[in-house]
Amino acid sequence: MRFKPSNYLNMIFACTLLTSLAACTPDPNAAASSPVQSSRSLMPADPAIKTVYIQSCYGCHSSGAGMAPRTGNIAEWAPRVQKGINVLLYNTINGIGSMPANGMCMDCSEEDFTKLILFLAGQSD
Ligand code: HEC
Repeated sequence: MRFKPSNYLNMIFACTLLTSLAACTPDPNAAASSPVQSSRSLMPADPAIKTVYIQSCYGCHSSGAGMAPRTGNIAEWAPRVQKGINVLLYNTINGIGSMPANGMCMDCSEEDFTKLILFLAGQSD
C-alpha cells in the first residue's frame, strides 16, 4: 500500500473505531480527524475521477446529505459493500432511495462509476 494522506486519514479513522477494542492508543487530537472531516477532505487520486467526484458525488456523499453514506466512512459503507460491487453499480445507475439515477453524472461510464464507488466506500488506495 502506497502511503498517501487519504490512507493516513483512513488509518486514523480505523484507529479511532478500534480504540474501544484497545487496539490503538487514544489520540488526544482524534477530534481533528473525525469521520465528518475526513469525508469532506478525502479526494480520489485519479485527476479525472476527482473532477467527476467533485461535480457529481461530493455534494451528498461528503456531508451525508439525505442519509448518504459518507465518503471513506468504513462503518457507514460496510452494509453496502456487503451487497457486492455489481449491486452497488446497478443501484448507482438506476438510483436508490433519495439518490437520483447516475448519482447526477450523466456521462459517467460503468468503469468511472466502479472507481467512484470503490473510492466512496474507502476501498481504493
Ligand atoms: C443528491 C444526492 C446524491 C448524489 C449527488 C450522489 N449520491 Fe450516492 N447516495 C445518496 C443517498 C441518499 C444514498 C443512500 C440511498 C439509500 O440507501 O436510501 C446513496 C447511496 C449510494 C450508494 C450505495 C448504494 C447501495 O446499494 O447501497 C452508492 C454506491 C452511491 N450512492 C454512489 C454514488 C456515486 C458514485 C455518486 C456520484 C456519481 C453519487 N452516489 C452521487 C445520495 C447521493
